[in-house]
Amino acid sequence: MTEPVVSLARHGDMAVLTIANPPVNALSKAVVAGLAEAVLAFEADRSFAGLLVHCTGRTFVAGGDIGSFDDPAFSAAPYNRTLARIEAQDRPVVATLHGTVLGGGLELALACHARVALPGTQFGLPEVKLGLLPGSLGTQRLPRAVGVRQALDMISTGRSLDAEAARDAGIVDAVRAGDPLAVGLAYLGELQARGEGVRRLSAQPVPDEGLPADFFAQALQAAAQRKPFHPAARSIVLAVQAAATRPFADGEATEARLFEQLRVSPESQALRHLFFAERQAARIPGLPRDTALRPVRRVGILGAGTMGGGIAMNFANVGLPVTLVEASAEALARGLGIIRRNYEASAAKGRMTSAQVDERMALLHGTLDDTALADCDLVIEAVFEDMALKQQVCARLGAVCRPGAIIATNTSTLDVDVLAEATGRPADVVGLHFFSPANVMRLLEVVRGARTAPDVLATAMQLARTIRKVAVVSGVCYGFIGNRMAEVYMREAEFLLMEGASPSQVDGAVEALGMAMGPCRMLDMAGIDVGARTVIEYGKAGGLPPDDSYRAMVRRLYELGRFGQKTGAGYYRYQGRTPVDDPEVARIAAELAAAHGIARRTDIGAPEIVERLLYPLINEGVRILEEGIAYRPGDIDIVWTAGYGFPDHLGGPMWWADALGLATVADRLTFYGRTRGDRFGYWRVAPLLSELVRSGRRLSDGLPG
Ligand code: NAI
Repeated sequence: MTEPVVSLARHGDMAVLTIANPPVNALSKAVVAGLAEAVLAFEADRSFAGLLVHCTGRTFVAGGDIGSFDDPAFSAAPYNRTLARIEAQDRPVVATLHGTVLGGGLELALACHARVALPGTQFGLPEVKLGLLPGSLGTQRLPRAVGVRQALDMISTGRSLDAEAARDAGIVDAVRAGDPLAVGLAYLGELQARGEGVRRLSAQPVPDEGLPADFFAQALQAAAQRKPFHPAARSIVLAVQAAATRPFADGEATEARLFEQLRVSPESQALRHLFFAERQAARIPGLPRDTALRPVRRVGILGAGTMGGGIAMNFANVGLPVTLVEASAEALARGLGIIRRNYEASAAKGRMTSAQVDERMALLHGTLDDTALADCDLVIEAVFEDMALKQQVCARLGAVCRPGAIIATNTSTLDVDVLAEATGRPADVVGLHFFSPANVMRLLEVVRGARTAPDVLATAMQLARTIRKVAVVSGVCYGFIGNRMAEVYMREAEFLLMEGASPSQVDGAVEALGMAMGPCRMLDMAGIDVGARTVIEYGKAGGLPPDDSYRAMVRRLYELGRFGQKTGAGYYRYQGRTPVDDPEVARIAAELAAAHGIARRTDIGAPEIVERLLYPLINEGVRILEEGIAYRPGDIDIVWTAGYGFPDHLGGPMWWADALGLATVADRLTFYGRTRGDRFGYWRVAPLLSELVRSGRRLSDGLPG
């Protein structure tokens, strides 16, 4: 017989309610039902003097069952009724807390009469990250415990507090070291001895903090400004306002109504999709979960430029020693200097101590001697994006690295299989495509070559977790998943400029949709030189369509030395860091249009810009799926939300395509092909997209075959 997930046992004259639902004691249906039963059993047995709520394993209840929110019949009511029943008990109920007390777990703790926590425990209400608010009275009980300002901050940001901060704020009554069960029983005994214990948050007023009369009006405005695309931000303010200004029962009803609105909102559904997509992305079809990993204790990096330096920081940040090899003493000194300045800037902001700066720098060993890479378990090359140079570097790494060491390339566009062959040991090779700035951006594309060994791939995925990146596997193709899709997006951005739209019009249209940055600002930041060289190289390799107008803008700006932000001018002119439309760029666009026979227009509106930038991008995403470059639509969504600032409330381009309707996307592609002409196949609908439309399926239904 299996153990019940919730049980009630006697310890002297106390009842102990134990939740045992590994790994994190999440609120499954069985836990919710078991909890209700156990509370009834306690209530019925008057021989108990009090109740301790306790969880086995590594944590107290760490949250709800997120999957259940998609069930149309989902209701928080049964759980909330049990929490009310716990609070209504006339004998003291104490929660003993350890691990991560999050979401529904913290709401359970708040329904108890007192809380004691082990040092190191974390407390938070992270529902906002899923576009929700805490739906089990967290918005009502937390303000009563900690006040409006603190509650609003915690619920709006999803930020966690540690045990001491939680005690100071008023979430927990005491912090005690020891075993959760023993600590809890001792605390419950103390309360009983003092004749204290029954204290119901719902019966307490929200502490008077002397809030200004317009506090909530201001908070609503700030929420709308800070998170214009996330309705949860406003709803959270409204729920906390109800807690502060209405009787508990009214607040409860308000919370329930707002929670339900958010639960079924497209924004929350999109964020939940991304939550699951991120977890799915770690699973690689055909790769057993128990694949033995190669140990990685020392990392080598070749090239300490923009990327190499940032990549090195990722490893130093988690305590892994790094050997950095450069071609010249100047480049090495420059690279190490930039890393130190980055760390010092973090220290100045209070994010680390100066001792930590020194510790991390001490993990970095710079050298000009590449034989120093011989004792590294993983070596990442981040030298200039030049095929001949990289082939030469890879051949050298193949010889220098010890047998079994992993050799990785950070190339953005070059053929990983060609580089793998150059090492002479292709099974050891994988692409690790970091995004700039590499110490900041969460995305890592892991490029699986034709001959990458399974354990190399599995090790790369695990390593991504170690350095706190979200990894997505891509097959080998030009630009992999992200930059390949960005290419069609940039193509249309440039055609729109040549047809007469301004950079701010183009960027503004997609930024109004929630893109962090439009295409022109994005490339100005990444560097017009970097972008142009990639296009030129791709042309030389025969990858471009036979179209002289293709990316003509970026090539001309490059010739003119307008490299973007770093030279003060690119698609925009820069006043400090502020981009302004530049008449010179308008002139260049008009000149190129004339040279390439592109008709100028004055009627380009935001809807057209959005469709022309993003529908081809979706179409390219579908091609990537069709070719097996990406395993699933969700992987593409993670790449674009984590790496390119695609709005998370739309769930990524593939999720958004389903919401738009695939038939609409296909029709509009066809429309533009007809109206703009399609000599080069730019608007051709991907066969898989046509097939999905024909069969009335969505991308999220799973791919055929
Ligand atoms: P970078 O020009 O800033 O740095 C390259 C560094 O490699 C230079 O410091 C150079 O001295 C060094 N180097 C050149 N040959 C070397 C050799 N034989 N041995 C040791 N060091 C050598 O270039 P960046 O931007 O860091 O790019 C590096 C790689 O990362 C490229 O493959 C690029 O495509 C890729 N990448 C760049 C991104 C970006 O936004 N800059 C984003 C993602 C990938």
